[in-house]
Amino acid sequence: MIEKVRAALLSWFDSGRRDLPWRKTRDPYAIWVAEMMLQQTQVRTVVPYYQRFLARFPTVRKLARASVDEVLEAWAGLGYYGRARNLHAAAREVVDHHRGKLPEDEAALRALPGIGRYTAGAIASIAFGRAAPVLDGNAARVLARLVAHDGTPSLLWPLAADLVPPDRPGDFNQALMELGATVCTPRDPTCLICPLAVLCEARRQGRTGELPRPRRRARPREASAACAIVERGAQWLVAKRPPHGLLGGLWEFPTFDLADGEEPAAVAERALRFDLGVEAVAIERLRPVRHAFSHLRLRVEPVRFEWRGGRLKSGRYPSVRFAGARAIDRLALSALARKVLDRLRGS
Ligand code: ADE
Repeated sequence: MIEKVRAALLSWFDSGRRDLPWRKTRDPYAIWVAEMMLQQTQVRTVVPYYQRFLARFPTVRKLARASVDEVLEAWAGLGYYGRARNLHAAAREVVDHHRGKLPEDEAALRALPGIGRYTAGAIASIAFGRAAPVLDGNAARVLARLVAHDGTPSLLWPLAADLVPPDRPGDFNQALMELGATVCTPRDPTCLICPLAVLCEARRQGRTGELPRPRRRARPREASAACAIVERGAQWLVAKRPPHGLLGGLWEFPTFDLADGEEPAAVAERALRFDLGVEAVAIERLRPVRHAFSHLRLRVEPVRFEWRGGRLKSGRYPSVRFAGARAIDRLALSALARKVLDRLRGS
């Protein structure tokens, strides 16, 4: 059974693997960057970010020498910014403690910030040819169906470890993830073209539709916020969020929590005055912008303000400044702030 799964999956991969930029390199650093991006983002979205990131930080030493702001700027738009901060911190550790070379074994990899069991397995197998298992959501679905199991990770990890072949671990792991992403999809898997169909227990039992059983996730919280777009001539007031927590270190238009029924313009005007030292009058309310985080669904009410005076102070925000259109485009804006900016520019 194990040999059949290996052979079927590897020959499927050999005949049609997707042509992805991180499959053209043997550089462990580049593979690491790709796997960090792929942790929570789809392949299609990752490709241009990956290419830009490597053009800007081609080596682990260049990344380690960059500031966290520069790294966030290159990451801006990909989301889950903790990944970028971890990657940067880990690059510094690699330079300081591993002479600039990524360690090869899983345990040492997992000691680095942002590298968990999955990413350690991916790097160890793809970059270093070690027979380490991976189990992302896609691989887990394939394996759960293969053995007709509900998908408990504690059962699937050992299965992944048994299956990974010592001679081509990286290709096997990538094939497993790719099969899950492209064929063994959550709904309506295309079993007709699946290399594992004849070996698949869920298919034999006619249960591909119900396996793996979905994990219960907490429903995201709903919240509202007022977003102040303060205009001073051709410039806008922008603020940098504190380094940790939601959207840490990214720039945005100052945004303030709204309680139920509160009036966005009034809340924002008061908060501008007391938190940021800005006197401004509201001139227009724009249509709300919605943005979903993994645990939070936010409804943002953008309000345009005209600057009247005041002395900028940082408080809730470690840094506030005015920026023109070109400067704003170069800042590490959050994806949410970009949506607000698009709204402002009339799209
Ligand atoms: N998902 C995460 N890493 C991947 C890889 N290297 N190949 C295919 N899918 C992936």
